[in-house]
Amino acid sequence: MNEQILEMLREDKGYVSGEEISRRLGISRTAVWKSIKALREYGYHITSSTNKGYHLEKDTDILEVSVISRDLNTGLIGKEIIVLKETDSTNSELKRRASKGGISGLVAAAEKQTDGKGRFGRNWDSQEGGLYFSVLLRPDMLPSDASAITLAAGLGVCLAIREYTGIDAKIKWPNDIIVGNRKLCGILTEMAAQIDRVDFIIIGIGINVNNRLFPEEISEKASSLFLETQKMIDRNDFFRCVLQKIDKVISSFLVSLSVEDMDMFKGLCATLGRKVSFTRYGNVIEGTAKDISLNGELIVSDDSGKEYSVSSGEVTVQGIY
Ligand code: BTN
Repeated sequence: MNEQILEMLREDKGYVSGEEISRRLGISRTAVWKSIKALREYGYHITSSTNKGYHLEKDTDILEVSVISRDLNTGLIGKEIIVLKETDSTNSELKRRASKGGISGLVAAAEKQTDGKGRFGRNWDSQEGGLYFSVLLRPDMLPSDASAITLAAGLGVCLAIREYTGIDAKIKWPNDIIVGNRKLCGILTEMAAQIDRVDFIIIGIGINVNNRLFPEEISEKASSLFLETQKMIDRNDFFRCVLQKIDKVISSFLVSLSVEDMDMFKGLCATLGRKVSFTRYGNVIEGTAKDISLNGELIVSDDSGKEYSVSSGEVTVQGIY
């Protein structure tokens, strides 16, 4: 019922009277009023005028399944979408759902995460205005082949940000999305697997969309689409664009490792050509990021020309946070 009222308010750019809503939906005026109250409590900016009725303000920024799914052109990702007002972490939410038979392609987004998780056990600041979601996949692949899937997701997000906002977004290997030396998006991929078979993969993506402020400890290192463009982003619309891009890249990745996608990834990768350092067996190794292998490893060569393949762990990139 709330959905239907929202649809009516969206259709009509002006005001819709309580009487009309009650007539069209065949419900009492009290029921209309109760629904409007519930929608306002959820966060919708609905104004009312005594003689004219109700009006949905344009600045309402709430994720809605019906709007995201409208004209969503994906094959796999977003087969089912759920939006939660609040959860601990969308990755944890999908883990729970995966163990109860959640389907491949299921997407869970949340307006707020109370325990958002980052890489290396860090927490992920999940304040209002961001886009926090996870994707459940059940690919038929070996666990050893799965790590590049996270690169595919990063490439999809980077392409969506570039297309939707015009921001010169780049990828910090393996999958942070940055602008200049500030982070716009982080990705945390988790996997449940047997030795020879992936059970499921959860790709958790946090994008700073309409965020205006960040906690002091990351304020110098983070930015948002709003801060970069000075424009409020329609998160439903942008979310649809992100789902379409990651669906395209991940679907082609699942068929075979695509050289074209990898070339596109390299073209957008801010890490390549930079001085980097990483730790191997307790030693800090310094070198230059030369290339990315088809399975997603960073190829680093040190001053003596010795090459290393770095597949995970933290790589420090000179000049980027
Ligand atoms: C990182 O850069 O450290 C990765 C951050 C990943 C954050 C996203 S927000 C949605 C999903 N749910 C989580 O708890 N984490 C990921």
